Order: sequence, then structure tokens, then C-alpha cells
Amino acid sequence: MSLDAVLSRIDADLPAATDRLIDLLRIPSISTDPAYKAACDQAADWLVADLQSLGIQASKRPTPGHPMVVGHIDGPGPHVLFYGHYDVQPVDPLELWDRDPFDPRLEDTAKGRVIRGRGASDDKGQLMTFVEACRAWKAVNGTLPCRITFFFEGEEESGSPSLVPFMEQNAAELTSDIALICDTGLFQSQSPAIVTMLRGLLGEEITITGPGKDLHSGMYGGVAMNPIRVLSRIIAGLHDDNGRITVPGFYDGVPELSAELSEQWRGLGFDHAGFLGDVGLSVPAGEQDRTPLEMIWSRPTCEVNGIKGGYTGEGFKTVLPSKASAKISFRLVGQQDPHKIRESFRAWVAAQLPADCSVSFHGHGASAASTMATDHPAFEAARKALSDEWPASAAYVGCGGSIPIAGHFKQILGTDAMLIGFGKDDDQIHSPNEKYDLESFHKGIRSWARVLDAIS
Ligand code: BES
Ligand code: ZN
Repeated sequence: MSLDAVLSRIDADLPAATDRLIDLLRIPSISTDPAYKAACDQAADWLVADLQSLGIQASKRPTPGHPMVVGHIDGPGPHVLFYGHYDVQPVDPLELWDRDPFDPRLEDTAKGRVIRGRGASDDKGQLMTFVEACRAWKAVNGTLPCRITFFFEGEEESGSPSLVPFMEQNAAELTSDIALICDTGLFQSQSPAIVTMLRGLLGEEITITGPGKDLHSGMYGGVAMNPIRVLSRIIAGLHDDNGRITVPGFYDGVPELSAELSEQWRGLGFDHAGFLGDVGLSVPAGEQDRTPLEMIWSRPTCEVNGIKGGYTGEGFKTVLPSKASAKISFRLVGQQDPHKIRESFRAWVAAQLPADCSVSFHGHGASAASTMATDHPAFEAARKALSDEWPASAAYVGCGGSIPIAGHFKQILGTDAMLIGFGKDDDQIHSPNEKYDLESFHKGIRSWARVLDAIS
């Protein structure tokens, strides 16, 4: 029973593994859009069947939203739970894609071969790295090196509304010695990384209503209050001139970066200019006394993710709209309380309304930041195993994104979570032309084989 035999098997099976991933990527499992409900169900069925083909006891488990997939297989050694999500982000704007997002292909690019399609990197490709590692292990050894529970979610990209109740109701079944999550990236696209800090996320949609119906701006403009004008003023006031967020109490619970972490992060040698340069920028727009790495990993933010109002079609229309709305998100760190911030934000907005205007709020999920403890022995074992696979050694890093389940493992089940992923900064997750490097997929599968070997 040698690791080398498993790694060789992975190498030999890569074309077939790629075909399987492409098959899964064809299913348009967009969780946030009810029009794709059947596709989410189909993706869950696909995963159940694939796990079952490995001899894993797997089933689709209903929730009020999209189903979960849970699978179990026995083995010696520790009990490991693996988490990934099968849902994907919407594809719009579709016209910016070079191909159909759900007709995935292998493509040769200047930087190597990539698997192109929605969900290739976030998160179907990453989820399948672990499944493929298990497949190779099973093919070579007939069994797996430890007891494994598979846990796949279909609502991660839409705020995981069913996750906490499901984990609470199935706590015994989902409790393990360690949880592995594959939904993050490599550090600077080259070093393997174990993420120890994730930011939380709070989503708010606000709609300002002025006049009771759309009006001719020649007849009513200047007299009637325009809700776009009100909305713009509120949005413009969210940040001060130094990039700080002005909502009262917003910074409550934001810790100062410890000298130790600050030192460790400096040692990572992050390429700040390159990070901005890769997306056509040169000047950081956040809090002016912070480095870009600090802004992303350790500071909270507020971003407007979309604005709607008035006439946005071709040509021109002199309309004074009745309503204007915006989708606004906050990334949270430390002990910031998403519920308190939601209340404070709503009160702050309501206090700025002029006469005759009203506001309505729609909340979109609220998760606090989470910090992973790294004292479980699996962390050092995994770090060594990853360093054996990649040219650079593995680092402990932060992450600007949010993965709500990471904190739930500890809070609900008492299990530590270890976040390891192989995405690259240029994977264009959530954007047009998402891709996953074939290298990420291949070395990702090999990495999991090594990690399983090391922690078993
Ligand atoms: N895989 C991402 C998290 C991520 C983002 C990891 C960037 C590494 C780099 C995850 O699927 C995601 O996008 N999460 C959402 C959160 C959700 C509540 C909508 C996010 O961070 O916006
Ligand atoms: Zn993801």
C-alpha cells in the first residue's frame, strides 16, 4: 500500500477525471436563481451517483432550499469530513464569455491548459480533487485510508440558508475528528496554502421609493424627489475620504493585527504591485494606512455590488423613476457582529431619507468572520504533505472571501476545519470565463492523496 502507487494512478487517470469534471460542469446549478432549481437537484444526483460508484453510502438530503449530499465510507484511522459546494454563481453578463459557460472545455492558453466553464474553480473542480483522490486510493488499495464523510452543499453561493439547521439536525452524523474544506486558493497562485482566517459577509438590499409611479422628468423633475438621487447620496456617504466606512459602530469588534501575524504576513513577500497590476490597477482604494494584503485579510469592507433604477436600456428616456435600489455587502472581521451592523446600517439609512421618500430592506445572509485554530496535529501533517507536492512550501494565510461553514464546524460540531484549495487568483471566479488550471486539478488531486496519507 504505497502512496507512490496512488499518485501514479492519479496521473494515469487524469484524462478520465477531467471528463468526469466536465460532465458535472455541464449542469447549470446556479443556486441563487429559482429558475435553476432542477439543475441544482440534478447536480446533487450526479454527485450521489458518483460517490456510490466508489462504494460510498451516499444520499441526497432534502432541505427547504437545495439538497445536501452526504456520504459515508468506513476505514481505519481518524474520521475525516470533506466539504465542498456544488452550486455556482450566475453567469451574467453572458456576452462577456468567450464560450457557453455550461459547455465546458479543456483549452490551451499561454499559461497552460485550463478547464473553462462556470464552477470549474468555484467549486466543482476543487470538490472533485478530493473525490478523485479517493477514487485513486480505492482503486489501488481497495479501501480508503481513514473513515470519511462527504458533505456537499448546494447553497453556498447564496448565503447557505439551510446549512445551520441541517448541521444542527444531523450533528451526530456530521461530527468528525477534522473537517477538510476545498474552496480556497493557492497563495499568489503558486504556493500551497492553508487558510486560517476568513472574513464574514453581510448582504443588504435597499430600495428607496419616492413618487408613487414613474414620472415624466420634464413635468415633474426638480419638483418630485428622485429616488436615484437619494440612493446615490446614501451610497456616496458610506466611505469617508480615507476609505473608512461611516456606518456608526461598524468598527466595533475589529481587532488590530497582532505584531506576530503582521510579521508572518510580511515574510510571505506578497507582491502588492503585481496583485493590483494584474487587474489593471495601481493605487489601493481602501483604508489609506493599510497595505493591500491587510485590507483583504484583516480589514472589513463595504462594497456596492449592484444598482438598479430608472431607464438602463439602449438609447435615452427622460424618466423620473418611482424606485431605486442597491445591493450592498459588508465583509467582516474579528468579532464584528453582522446582526448589529445590519441594524445600525438600516437606522443610518433611514435617518437620511428626505420628505416623501421611504425605504425597504431585504437582508441577504449574515455570517461572522472565523479564525481557525491550527493546533490540531493534522495541520502540520498537511503542511508537510502539501510542501512535498508543490515547488514551494505551504504557508498559513488569510483569505478575503467568505465560507460560512468554516465557523459552523467549530460552533455547532466542535470540529476544527482545515481549508486547503488550489484555485489561482486569475481563475475569474464569479466572473465571465471562469477557469481552473489543469495543473490545479491534477496537483490538487495528488495533494489530497498526500494529505490523506499524512493524517491517517
Ligand atoms: N470559494 C469562495 C470563497 C473564496 C473567495 C475563496 C475568494 C478564496 C478566494 C466562495 O464560494 C464564495 O464565493 N463565497 C461567497 C460567500 C457567499 C456567502 C456568497 C463570497 O465570498 O462572496
Ligand atoms: Zn466557493
